[in-house]
Amino acid sequence: MTHQKNHTQYTPSIIPLPVKLTPETGQFAFNHETIIECDPELKKIGEFLQNFLYPATTFEFNVKIIPPNHFNTNSIVLKLDNGLSHLGLEGYSIKITRENVIISALTSIGIFYGIQSLRQLLPPEIDHSNEVKNVNWGVSCVQIEDYPRFPWRGFMLDDARHFLGKEIVLKILDLLALLKMNVFHWHLTDDQGWRIEIKKYPKLTEIGSKRTSSQIGGFISKNQDGIPHQGYYTQDDIKEIVTYAANRGINIIPEIEMPGHCIAALSAYPEMSCSGGPFDVSSIVGIHKDVFCVGKEHVFTFLQNILKEIMTLFPSEIIHIGGDEVPKTRWKQCPDCQARIKMEGFEDEKDLQYYFTNRIVTFLALHGKRTMGWNQILNDTLPIDVISQYWMFDKKKVINHLKRGRKIVMSKYGRVYLDYGYAFTPLKKTYAYDPIPKKLAPQFHQNVLGIEAPLWTEWVRNAHNLYWQIFPRLFAVAETGWTQKILKSYTSFTSRLHTLSKRLDCLGINYAREKETNPTFLKRLFGIFTILVEPKRPTRNASIES
Ligand code: ACM
Ligand code: ZN
Repeated sequence: MTHQKNHTQYTPSIIPLPVKLTPETGQFAFNHETIIECDPELKKIGEFLQNFLYPATTFEFNVKIIPPNHFNTNSIVLKLDNGLSHLGLEGYSIKITRENVIISALTSIGIFYGIQSLRQLLPPEIDHSNEVKNVNWGVSCVQIEDYPRFPWRGFMLDDARHFLGKEIVLKILDLLALLKMNVFHWHLTDDQGWRIEIKKYPKLTEIGSKRTSSQIGGFISKNQDGIPHQGYYTQDDIKEIVTYAANRGINIIPEIEMPGHCIAALSAYPEMSCSGGPFDVSSIVGIHKDVFCVGKEHVFTFLQNILKEIMTLFPSEIIHIGGDEVPKTRWKQCPDCQARIKMEGFEDEKDLQYYFTNRIVTFLALHGKRTMGWNQILNDTLPIDVISQYWMFDKKKVINHLKRGRKIVMSKYGRVYLDYGYAFTPLKKTYAYDPIPKKLAPQFHQNVLGIEAPLWTEWVRNAHNLYWQIFPRLFAVAETGWTQKILKSYTSFTSRLHTLSKRLDCLGINYAREKETNPTFLKRLFGIFTILVEPKRPTRNASIES
Protein backbone atom coordinates (compact mmCIF):
# COMPACT_ATOMS: atom_id res chain seq x y z
CA MET A 1 0.00 0.00 0.00
CA THR A 2 1.13 3.51 -0.63
CA HIS A 3 1.03 6.36 1.76
CA GLN A 4 -0.26 9.71 0.71
CA LYS A 5 2.45 12.19 1.64
CA ASN A 6 0.52 15.11 0.24
CA HIS A 7 -0.67 16.74 3.43
CA THR A 8 -0.82 20.24 2.00
CA GLN A 9 -4.41 20.88 3.03
CA TYR A 10 -3.94 19.86 6.61
CA THR A 11 -1.87 17.39 8.56
CA PRO A 12 -3.84 14.90 10.57
CA SER A 13 -1.75 14.15 13.61
CA ILE A 14 -2.52 10.51 14.18
CA ILE A 15 -0.12 8.45 16.28
CA PRO A 16 0.51 5.69 15.35
CA LEU A 17 0.63 6.78 11.72
CA PRO A 18 -1.97 4.95 9.59
CA VAL A 19 -1.01 2.82 6.61
CA LYS A 20 -2.91 4.84 4.03
CA LEU A 21 -4.35 8.27 4.48
CA THR A 22 -5.85 10.34 1.67
CA PRO A 23 -6.93 13.89 2.55
CA GLU A 24 -9.93 15.21 0.65
CA THR A 25 -11.58 18.61 0.48
CA GLY A 26 -14.31 19.73 2.82
CA GLN A 27 -15.28 19.03 6.36
CA PHE A 28 -17.81 17.08 8.36
CA ALA A 29 -19.17 19.26 11.13
CA PHE A 30 -20.53 17.84 14.37
CA ASN A 31 -23.64 19.53 15.76
CA HIS A 32 -26.60 18.97 18.07
CA GLU A 33 -28.32 16.85 15.43
CA THR A 34 -25.43 14.51 14.68
CA ILE A 35 -26.24 10.93 15.58
CA ILE A 36 -24.37 7.64 15.77
CA GLU A 37 -25.80 4.92 13.53
CA CYS A 38 -24.59 1.36 13.94
CA ASP A 39 -25.12 -2.34 13.38
CA PRO A 40 -26.90 -4.07 16.27
CA GLU A 41 -23.65 -5.88 17.24
CA LEU A 42 -21.91 -2.51 17.65
CA LYS A 43 -24.41 -0.89 20.02
CA LYS A 44 -22.03 -1.06 23.00
CA ILE A 45 -19.21 0.49 21.00
CA GLY A 46 -21.63 3.13 19.68
CA GLU A 47 -22.46 4.04 23.26
CA PHE A 48 -18.79 4.11 24.12
CA LEU A 49 -18.29 6.67 21.34
CA GLN A 50 -21.32 8.64 22.52
CA ASN A 51 -19.98 8.76 26.08
CA PHE A 52 -16.62 9.86 24.80
CA LEU A 53 -17.93 12.65 22.57
CA TYR A 54 -20.51 14.09 24.96
CA PRO A 55 -18.57 15.83 27.80
CA ALA A 56 -16.59 18.34 25.73
CA THR A 57 -19.24 18.96 23.05
CA THR A 58 -22.42 18.50 25.11
CA PHE A 59 -24.02 17.14 21.93
CA GLU A 60 -26.23 14.12 22.63
CA PHE A 61 -25.05 11.88 19.77
CA ASN A 62 -28.01 9.53 20.08
CA VAL A 63 -27.19 5.97 19.13
CA LYS A 64 -29.50 4.46 16.53
CA ILE A 65 -29.44 0.84 15.38
CA ILE A 66 -29.82 0.60 11.61
CA PRO A 67 -30.18 -2.17 9.02
CA PRO A 68 -27.07 -2.65 6.86
CA ASN A 69 -26.34 0.34 4.62
CA HIS A 70 -29.39 2.34 5.64
CA PHE A 71 -27.62 5.27 7.19
CA ASN A 72 -28.72 8.88 6.94
CA THR A 73 -26.84 12.15 6.62
CA ASN A 74 -25.24 13.93 9.56
CA SER A 75 -24.25 10.71 11.23
CA ILE A 76 -21.25 8.76 12.40
CA VAL A 77 -21.76 5.29 10.98
CA LEU A 78 -20.20 2.21 12.56
CA LYS A 79 -20.50 -0.93 10.52
CA LEU A 80 -18.96 -4.37 10.24
CA ASP A 81 -17.93 -5.28 6.71
CA ASN A 82 -16.85 -8.77 5.60
CA GLY A 83 -15.33 -7.17 2.53
CA LEU A 84 -12.55 -5.72 4.66
CA SER A 85 -10.80 -8.98 5.50
CA HIS A 86 -7.69 -7.67 3.71
CA LEU A 87 -7.29 -5.23 6.63
CA GLY A 88 -7.11 -8.10 9.12
CA LEU A 89 -8.73 -8.61 12.50
CA GLU A 90 -7.60 -5.24 13.89
CA GLY A 91 -7.76 -3.13 10.73
CA TYR A 92 -10.37 -0.51 9.90
CA SER A 93 -11.42 1.96 7.28
CA ILE A 94 -12.60 5.56 7.78
CA LYS A 95 -14.33 7.60 5.15
CA ILE A 96 -15.19 11.15 6.08
CA THR A 97 -17.38 13.12 3.67
CA ARG A 98 -19.40 16.28 4.21
CA GLU A 99 -22.41 14.04 5.01
CA ASN A 100 -21.00 11.26 7.17
CA VAL A 101 -18.17 9.74 9.09
CA ILE A 102 -18.17 6.04 8.15
CA ILE A 103 -16.04 3.68 10.20
CA SER A 104 -16.04 0.10 8.99
CA ALA A 105 -14.04 -2.98 9.86
CA LEU A 106 -14.14 -6.74 9.87
CA THR A 107 -14.36 -6.87 13.67
CA SER A 108 -15.56 -4.74 16.56
CA ILE A 109 -11.99 -4.13 17.70
CA GLY A 110 -11.26 -2.70 14.24
CA ILE A 111 -14.22 -0.35 14.76
CA PHE A 112 -12.79 0.61 18.15
CA TYR A 113 -9.45 1.50 16.56
CA GLY A 114 -11.25 3.49 13.88
CA ILE A 115 -12.90 5.46 16.68
CA GLN A 116 -9.47 6.13 18.22
CA SER A 117 -8.29 7.55 14.89
CA LEU A 118 -11.43 9.67 14.63
CA ARG A 119 -10.64 10.90 18.15
CA GLN A 120 -7.21 12.01 16.96
CA LEU A 121 -8.70 13.73 13.91
CA LEU A 122 -10.85 15.87 16.20
CA PRO A 123 -9.45 18.93 17.97
CA PRO A 124 -7.53 17.88 21.14
CA GLU A 125 -10.15 19.69 23.23
CA ILE A 126 -12.43 16.71 22.61
CA ASP A 127 -10.46 15.00 25.38
CA HIS A 128 -11.60 17.49 28.00
CA SER A 129 -13.91 16.04 30.61
CA ASN A 130 -16.03 19.22 30.70
CA GLU A 131 -17.75 21.36 28.10
CA VAL A 132 -15.39 23.37 25.90
CA LYS A 133 -17.01 26.31 24.13
CA ASN A 134 -15.98 28.00 20.87
CA VAL A 135 -14.38 24.97 19.30
CA ASN A 136 -15.11 23.95 15.73
CA TRP A 137 -16.11 20.33 16.31
CA GLY A 138 -15.37 19.28 12.80
CA VAL A 139 -13.16 16.80 11.03
CA SER A 140 -11.62 17.33 7.61
CA CYS A 141 -12.68 14.93 4.90
CA VAL A 142 -10.28 12.05 4.57
CA GLN A 143 -10.06 8.39 3.70
CA ILE A 144 -8.03 6.05 5.86
CA GLU A 145 -7.22 2.37 5.58
CA ASP A 146 -5.20 1.01 8.41
CA TYR A 147 -3.96 -2.14 10.13
CA PRO A 148 -1.12 -2.96 12.52
CA ARG A 149 2.36 -4.25 11.77
CA PHE A 150 2.59 -6.44 14.91
CA PRO A 151 -0.08 -8.33 16.86
CA TRP A 152 1.61 -7.45 20.20
CA ARG A 153 1.78 -3.79 21.22
CA GLY A 154 2.35 -3.76 24.93
CA PHE A 155 3.10 -1.77 28.02
CA MET A 156 4.24 -3.26 31.34
CA LEU A 157 3.52 -1.64 34.66
CA ASP A 158 5.51 -2.66 37.73
CA ASP A 159 2.90 -2.17 40.43
CA ALA A 160 5.02 -4.00 43.02
CA ARG A 161 7.84 -1.54 43.72
CA HIS A 162 5.26 1.19 44.11
CA PHE A 163 1.57 0.51 44.34
CA LEU A 164 -0.19 2.85 41.93
CA GLY A 165 -3.82 1.86 42.44
CA LYS A 166 -6.99 1.39 40.43
CA GLU A 167 -7.58 4.97 39.24
CA ILE A 168 -4.14 5.23 37.69
CA VAL A 169 -4.36 1.79 36.10
CA LEU A 170 -7.71 2.66 34.49
CA LYS A 171 -6.24 5.89 33.16
CA ILE A 172 -3.27 4.03 31.73
CA LEU A 173 -5.66 1.64 29.98
CA ASP A 174 -7.45 4.64 28.43
CA LEU A 175 -4.13 5.98 27.18
CA LEU A 176 -3.10 2.60 25.75
CA ALA A 177 -6.41 2.49 23.89
CA LEU A 178 -5.75 5.94 22.41
CA LEU A 179 -2.52 4.51 20.97
CA LYS A 180 -4.10 1.25 19.72
CA MET A 181 -1.97 -0.75 22.14
CA ASN A 182 -3.46 -4.09 23.07
CA VAL A 183 -1.41 -5.68 25.86
CA PHE A 184 -1.21 -4.51 29.47
CA HIS A 185 1.40 -6.65 31.21
CA TRP A 186 0.87 -6.25 34.92
CA HIS A 187 3.86 -6.98 37.15
CA LEU A 188 1.99 -7.62 40.38
CA THR A 189 4.54 -9.26 42.66
CA ASP A 190 8.15 -8.64 43.56
CA ASP A 191 10.52 -8.42 46.52
CA GLN A 192 9.05 -5.07 47.57
CA GLY A 193 5.37 -5.96 47.48
CA TRP A 194 2.62 -8.48 46.69
CA ARG A 195 -0.27 -6.59 45.12
CA ILE A 196 -3.08 -9.05 44.41
CA GLU A 197 -5.53 -10.70 46.80
CA ILE A 198 -5.26 -14.49 46.85
CA LYS A 199 -8.12 -15.97 48.89
CA LYS A 200 -6.31 -19.19 49.78
CA TYR A 201 -3.24 -17.36 51.11
CA PRO A 202 -4.48 -14.15 52.79
CA LYS A 203 -1.11 -13.40 54.37
CA LEU A 204 0.26 -12.63 50.88
CA THR A 205 -1.52 -9.29 51.12
CA GLU A 206 -1.92 -8.98 54.92
CA ILE A 207 1.85 -9.15 55.25
CA GLY A 208 3.28 -9.11 51.73
CA SER A 209 1.64 -5.88 50.54
CA LYS A 210 3.22 -3.72 53.24
CA ARG A 211 6.75 -2.49 53.78
CA THR A 212 8.10 -0.17 56.42
CA SER A 213 10.32 1.99 54.24
CA SER A 214 11.63 2.54 50.71
CA GLN A 215 15.11 3.06 49.33
CA ILE A 216 15.68 6.56 48.01
CA GLY A 217 18.37 8.17 45.89
CA GLY A 218 18.98 5.40 43.38
CA PHE A 219 20.39 1.89 43.05
CA ILE A 220 23.70 2.64 44.77
CA SER A 221 22.22 4.73 47.54
CA LYS A 222 21.96 3.44 51.11
CA ASN A 223 19.28 5.95 52.04
CA GLN A 224 15.79 5.08 53.19
CA ASP A 225 12.74 7.33 53.44
CA GLY A 226 11.37 5.60 56.56
CA ILE A 227 7.83 5.96 55.21
CA PRO A 228 5.58 2.86 55.22
CA HIS A 229 4.24 1.91 51.80
CA GLN A 230 1.39 -0.50 51.08
CA GLY A 231 -1.46 -1.43 48.79
CA TYR A 232 -3.04 -4.25 46.85
CA TYR A 233 -5.90 -5.01 44.46
CA THR A 234 -8.87 -6.99 45.74
CA GLN A 235 -10.23 -9.67 43.44
CA ASP A 236 -13.22 -7.38 42.78
CA ASP A 237 -10.81 -4.61 41.71
CA ILE A 238 -9.11 -7.05 39.36
CA LYS A 239 -12.40 -8.11 37.76
CA GLU A 240 -13.39 -4.50 37.22
CA ILE A 241 -10.03 -3.62 35.68
CA VAL A 242 -10.01 -6.71 33.43
CA THR A 243 -13.47 -5.80 32.07
CA TYR A 244 -12.46 -2.18 31.56
CA ALA A 245 -9.43 -3.33 29.57
CA ALA A 246 -11.42 -5.83 27.51
CA ASN A 247 -13.84 -3.05 26.52
CA ARG A 248 -10.82 -1.27 25.06
CA GLY A 249 -9.42 -4.26 23.20
CA ILE A 250 -6.66 -4.72 25.79
CA ASN A 251 -5.61 -8.09 27.12
CA ILE A 252 -4.22 -8.00 30.65
CA ILE A 253 -1.37 -10.41 31.19
CA PRO A 254 -0.67 -10.86 34.89
CA GLU A 255 2.88 -11.54 35.98
CA ILE A 256 3.45 -13.54 39.14
CA GLU A 257 7.24 -13.55 39.54
CA MET A 258 8.90 -16.89 40.26
CA PRO A 259 11.18 -18.41 41.37
CA GLY A 260 13.06 -15.14 42.10
CA HIS A 261 11.95 -11.64 43.07
CA CYS A 262 9.62 -13.12 45.70
CA ILE A 263 10.69 -11.76 49.12
CA ALA A 264 7.22 -10.26 49.66
CA ALA A 265 5.69 -13.74 49.30
CA LEU A 266 8.39 -15.29 51.48
CA SER A 267 7.80 -12.72 54.22
CA ALA A 268 4.24 -14.05 54.43
CA TYR A 269 5.07 -17.75 53.90
CA PRO A 270 8.75 -18.26 54.82
CA GLU A 271 8.34 -22.03 54.55
CA MET A 272 8.41 -21.57 50.76
CA SER A 273 12.09 -20.60 50.91
CA CYS A 274 15.16 -22.81 51.21
CA SER A 275 16.16 -21.58 54.69
CA GLY A 276 12.76 -21.05 56.31
CA GLY A 277 13.37 -17.35 56.89
CA PRO A 278 12.22 -15.13 58.54
CA PHE A 279 11.98 -12.35 55.95
CA ASP A 280 10.66 -8.81 55.75
CA VAL A 281 9.10 -7.30 52.65
CA SER A 282 12.13 -5.65 51.12
CA SER A 283 12.77 -1.93 51.25
CA ILE A 284 15.91 -2.39 49.19
CA VAL A 285 15.91 -2.61 45.39
CA GLY A 286 17.99 -4.99 43.26
CA ILE A 287 18.44 -8.75 43.20
CA HIS A 288 17.79 -10.75 46.39
CA LYS A 289 19.39 -14.10 47.17
CA ASP A 290 16.30 -15.66 48.75
CA VAL A 291 14.03 -17.28 46.19
CA PHE A 292 11.40 -20.05 46.14
CA CYS A 293 12.82 -23.44 47.07
CA VAL A 294 12.65 -25.90 44.18
CA GLY A 295 13.38 -28.95 46.34
CA LYS A 296 10.22 -28.78 48.47
CA GLU A 297 7.02 -30.18 46.97
CA HIS A 298 4.77 -27.86 49.00
CA VAL A 299 6.27 -24.89 47.11
CA PHE A 300 4.76 -26.23 43.87
CA THR A 301 1.40 -26.78 45.58
CA PHE A 302 1.52 -23.19 46.88
CA LEU A 303 2.40 -21.66 43.50
CA GLN A 304 -0.12 -23.80 41.62
CA ASN A 305 -2.90 -22.78 44.02
CA ILE A 306 -2.00 -19.13 43.47
CA LEU A 307 -1.98 -19.63 39.70
CA LYS A 308 -5.40 -21.32 39.88
CA GLU A 309 -6.86 -18.12 41.35
CA ILE A 310 -4.94 -16.02 38.84
CA MET A 311 -6.40 -18.08 35.99
CA THR A 312 -9.96 -17.55 37.22
CA LEU A 313 -9.39 -13.78 37.49
CA PHE A 314 -7.64 -13.18 34.17
CA PRO A 315 -9.19 -14.51 30.94
CA SER A 316 -5.82 -14.08 29.21
CA GLU A 317 -4.59 -17.22 27.47
CA ILE A 318 -1.08 -16.13 28.49
CA ILE A 319 0.24 -16.02 32.05
CA HIS A 320 3.64 -14.43 32.75
CA ILE A 321 5.83 -16.09 35.39
CA GLY A 322 8.83 -13.76 35.33
CA GLY A 323 11.85 -16.01 35.66
CA ASP A 324 14.52 -13.29 35.42
CA GLU A 325 17.40 -12.66 37.83
CA VAL A 326 17.37 -15.85 39.90
CA PRO A 327 20.50 -16.17 42.05
CA LYS A 328 21.44 -19.79 42.70
CA THR A 329 23.11 -19.10 46.10
CA ARG A 330 20.40 -20.58 48.33
CA TRP A 331 19.74 -23.57 46.09
CA LYS A 332 23.44 -24.45 46.37
CA GLN A 333 23.17 -24.57 50.18
CA CYS A 334 19.75 -26.22 50.44
CA PRO A 335 19.56 -29.97 51.16
CA ASP A 336 16.13 -30.19 49.48
CA CYS A 337 17.28 -28.44 46.31
CA GLN A 338 20.45 -30.55 46.22
CA ALA A 339 18.40 -33.73 46.70
CA ARG A 340 16.25 -32.73 43.72
CA ILE A 341 19.35 -32.13 41.61
CA LYS A 342 20.68 -35.54 42.52
CA MET A 343 17.38 -37.36 42.04
CA GLU A 344 16.78 -35.81 38.62
CA GLY A 345 20.40 -36.26 37.56
CA PHE A 346 20.88 -32.56 36.88
CA GLU A 347 24.22 -31.01 36.18
CA ASP A 348 23.74 -27.94 38.35
CA GLU A 349 21.38 -25.28 39.74
CA LYS A 350 20.83 -23.85 36.27
CA ASP A 351 19.04 -27.08 35.38
CA LEU A 352 17.00 -26.66 38.55
CA GLN A 353 15.54 -23.41 37.22
CA TYR A 354 14.72 -25.09 33.90
CA TYR A 355 13.05 -27.93 35.83
CA PHE A 356 11.06 -25.40 37.86
CA THR A 357 9.98 -23.45 34.78
CA ASN A 358 9.00 -26.54 32.81
CA ARG A 359 6.88 -27.86 35.70
CA ILE A 360 4.96 -24.59 35.94
CA VAL A 361 4.60 -24.52 32.14
CA THR A 362 3.10 -28.02 32.21
CA PHE A 363 0.72 -27.06 35.02
CA LEU A 364 -0.52 -23.98 33.16
CA ALA A 365 -0.82 -25.96 29.91
CA LEU A 366 -3.07 -28.49 31.68
CA HIS A 367 -5.38 -25.56 32.37
CA GLY A 368 -5.28 -24.39 28.77
CA LYS A 369 -2.84 -21.54 29.41
CA ARG A 370 0.37 -20.53 27.69
CA THR A 371 3.32 -19.53 29.81
CA MET A 372 5.38 -16.43 29.18
CA GLY A 373 8.64 -15.47 30.86
CA TRP A 374 11.68 -13.19 30.51
CA ASN A 375 14.45 -14.51 28.27
CA GLN A 376 16.27 -16.18 31.20
CA ILE A 377 13.69 -18.99 31.07
CA LEU A 378 14.87 -20.07 27.61
CA ASN A 379 16.25 -23.60 27.58
CA ASP A 380 16.37 -26.50 25.15
CA THR A 381 13.62 -28.47 26.88
CA LEU A 382 11.20 -25.54 27.10
CA PRO A 383 7.98 -26.37 25.18
CA ILE A 384 7.92 -24.45 21.93
CA ASP A 385 4.62 -22.68 22.59
CA VAL A 386 6.06 -20.86 25.63
CA ILE A 387 6.46 -17.17 24.81
CA SER A 388 9.53 -15.31 25.92
CA GLN A 389 10.27 -11.64 26.41
CA TYR A 390 13.70 -10.37 25.46
CA TRP A 391 15.14 -7.61 27.63
CA MET A 392 18.88 -8.22 28.13
CA PHE A 393 21.65 -10.84 27.78
CA ASP A 394 21.67 -13.91 25.55
CA LYS A 395 20.62 -12.20 22.32
CA LYS A 396 22.11 -15.12 20.37
CA LYS A 397 20.03 -17.61 22.30
CA VAL A 398 16.94 -15.50 21.66
CA ILE A 399 17.65 -15.49 17.92
CA ASN A 400 18.17 -19.26 17.95
CA HIS A 401 14.82 -19.74 19.62
CA LEU A 402 13.16 -17.44 17.08
CA LYS A 403 14.62 -19.61 14.32
CA ARG A 404 13.17 -22.68 15.97
CA GLY A 405 9.72 -21.17 15.89
CA ARG A 406 9.42 -19.69 19.37
CA LYS A 407 7.38 -16.51 19.66
CA ILE A 408 9.21 -13.65 21.34
CA VAL A 409 8.20 -10.16 22.43
CA MET A 410 10.96 -7.56 22.24
CA SER A 411 11.62 -5.21 25.17
CA LYS A 412 15.29 -4.29 24.85
CA TYR A 413 16.19 -2.51 28.06
CA GLY A 414 18.22 0.38 26.63
CA ARG A 415 15.54 1.26 24.10
CA VAL A 416 12.12 0.72 25.59
CA TYR A 417 12.61 0.56 29.38
CA LEU A 418 10.64 3.68 30.19
CA ASP A 419 11.98 4.01 33.75
CA TYR A 420 15.36 5.16 32.42
CA GLY A 421 16.05 8.86 32.21
CA TYR A 422 15.99 10.60 28.85
CA ALA A 423 19.77 11.13 29.03
CA PHE A 424 20.24 7.37 28.70
CA THR A 425 17.21 6.68 26.52
CA PRO A 426 16.28 9.77 24.50
CA LEU A 427 13.01 9.77 22.59
CA LYS A 428 14.87 9.44 19.31
CA LYS A 429 16.57 6.23 20.47
CA THR A 430 13.27 4.69 21.51
CA TYR A 431 11.71 5.68 18.19
CA ALA A 432 14.57 4.13 16.22
CA TYR A 433 14.26 0.73 17.91
CA ASP A 434 13.08 -2.01 15.61
CA PRO A 435 11.89 -5.20 17.31
CA ILE A 436 13.05 -7.42 14.44
CA PRO A 437 16.73 -8.32 15.05
CA LYS A 438 18.88 -7.30 12.09
CA LYS A 439 20.40 -10.77 11.84
CA LEU A 440 17.06 -12.56 11.66
CA ALA A 441 16.18 -13.98 8.23
CA PRO A 442 12.80 -12.84 6.86
CA GLN A 443 11.14 -16.25 7.16
CA PHE A 444 11.43 -15.96 10.95
CA HIS A 445 10.16 -12.40 11.29
CA GLN A 446 6.65 -13.56 12.11
CA ASN A 447 8.00 -15.15 15.30
CA VAL A 448 8.64 -11.68 16.68
CA LEU A 449 5.21 -10.98 18.13
CA GLY A 450 5.90 -7.32 18.65
CA ILE A 451 7.10 -4.74 21.11
CA GLU A 452 6.48 -4.06 24.77
CA ALA A 453 7.70 -1.18 26.90
CA PRO A 454 8.15 -1.88 30.62
CA LEU A 455 7.99 0.72 33.35
CA TRP A 456 9.78 -0.40 36.51
CA THR A 457 8.78 1.76 39.44
CA GLU A 458 11.61 1.68 41.97
CA TRP A 459 11.83 5.45 41.50
CA VAL A 460 8.29 6.20 40.38
CA ARG A 461 6.12 7.06 43.34
CA ASN A 462 3.17 8.88 41.81
CA ALA A 463 1.21 9.41 38.62
CA HIS A 464 2.86 12.72 37.80
CA ASN A 465 6.30 11.14 37.61
CA LEU A 466 4.97 8.00 35.99
CA TYR A 467 3.51 9.94 33.06
CA TRP A 468 6.69 11.98 32.68
CA GLN A 469 8.66 8.75 32.28
CA ILE A 470 6.32 7.16 29.76
CA PHE A 471 5.26 10.13 27.62
CA PRO A 472 6.15 10.77 24.90
CA ARG A 473 8.28 7.62 24.64
CA LEU A 474 5.20 5.41 24.72
CA PHE A 475 3.96 7.20 21.58
CA ALA A 476 7.16 6.08 19.86
CA VAL A 477 6.65 2.51 21.05
CA ALA A 478 3.05 2.55 19.84
CA GLU A 479 4.13 3.76 16.40
CA THR A 480 6.80 1.07 16.14
CA GLY A 481 4.24 -1.57 17.11
CA TRP A 482 1.55 -0.43 14.69
CA THR A 483 3.02 1.49 11.77
CA GLN A 484 4.69 -0.27 8.85
CA LYS A 485 8.46 0.14 9.12
CA ILE A 486 8.73 1.76 5.69
CA LEU A 487 6.34 4.54 6.76
CA LYS A 488 8.14 5.46 9.95
CA SER A 489 9.86 8.84 10.05
CA TYR A 490 11.13 10.62 13.14
CA THR A 491 10.53 14.03 11.54
CA SER A 492 6.92 13.17 10.76
CA PHE A 493 6.52 11.65 14.24
CA THR A 494 7.73 14.75 16.07
CA SER A 495 5.51 17.00 13.98
CA ARG A 496 2.49 14.93 15.01
CA LEU A 497 3.66 14.80 18.60
CA HIS A 498 2.75 18.41 19.07
CA THR A 499 -0.99 17.74 18.74
CA LEU A 500 -0.76 14.67 20.93
CA SER A 501 0.94 16.76 23.63
CA LYS A 502 -1.97 19.19 23.50
CA ARG A 503 -4.27 16.21 23.92
CA LEU A 504 -2.34 15.16 27.03
CA ASP A 505 -2.75 18.72 28.33
CA CYS A 506 -6.51 18.37 27.87
CA LEU A 507 -6.45 15.02 29.63
CA GLY A 508 -4.39 16.46 32.47
CA ILE A 509 -1.53 14.04 31.88
CA ASN A 510 2.08 15.03 32.47
CA TYR A 511 4.78 14.38 29.84
CA ALA A 512 8.39 15.23 29.16
CA ARG A 513 8.78 18.35 27.04
CA GLU A 514 10.68 18.39 23.77
CA LYS A 515 13.86 19.80 25.30
CA GLU A 516 13.80 17.11 27.98
CA THR A 517 13.24 14.17 25.65
CA ASN A 518 16.43 14.57 23.61
CA PRO A 519 19.10 15.96 25.99
CA THR A 520 22.30 17.58 24.79
CA PHE A 521 25.28 15.51 23.71
CA LEU A 522 27.07 16.29 26.95
CA LYS A 523 24.18 15.11 29.11
CA ARG A 524 23.87 11.97 27.04
CA LEU A 525 27.57 11.28 27.38
CA PHE A 526 27.01 10.83 31.10
CA GLY A 527 23.62 9.18 30.52
CA ILE A 528 24.85 5.76 31.61
CA PHE A 529 25.47 7.06 35.13
CA THR A 530 21.92 8.35 35.39
CA ILE A 531 20.75 4.73 35.58
CA LEU A 532 22.29 4.49 39.04
CA VAL A 533 20.68 7.51 40.58
CA GLU A 534 17.11 8.52 41.06
CA PRO A 535 15.89 10.44 38.00
CA LYS A 536 15.73 14.20 38.33
CA ARG A 537 12.41 15.30 36.98
CA PRO A 538 11.32 18.88 36.46
CA THR A 539 8.74 20.12 38.91
CA ARG A 540 5.79 21.54 37.10
CA ASN A 541 2.49 22.94 37.96
CA ALA A 542 0.96 19.51 38.04
CA SER A 543 -2.69 19.92 38.66
CA ILE A 544 -4.47 16.82 38.09
CA GLU A 545 -3.39 13.26 38.11
CA SER A 546 -4.70 11.28 41.02
C1 ACM B 1 14.14 -7.28 34.14
O1 ACM B 1 14.31 -6.10 33.85
N1 ACM B 1 14.76 -7.78 35.21
C2 ACM B 1 13.29 -8.16 33.37
ZN1 ZN C 1 15.74 -25.26 48.43
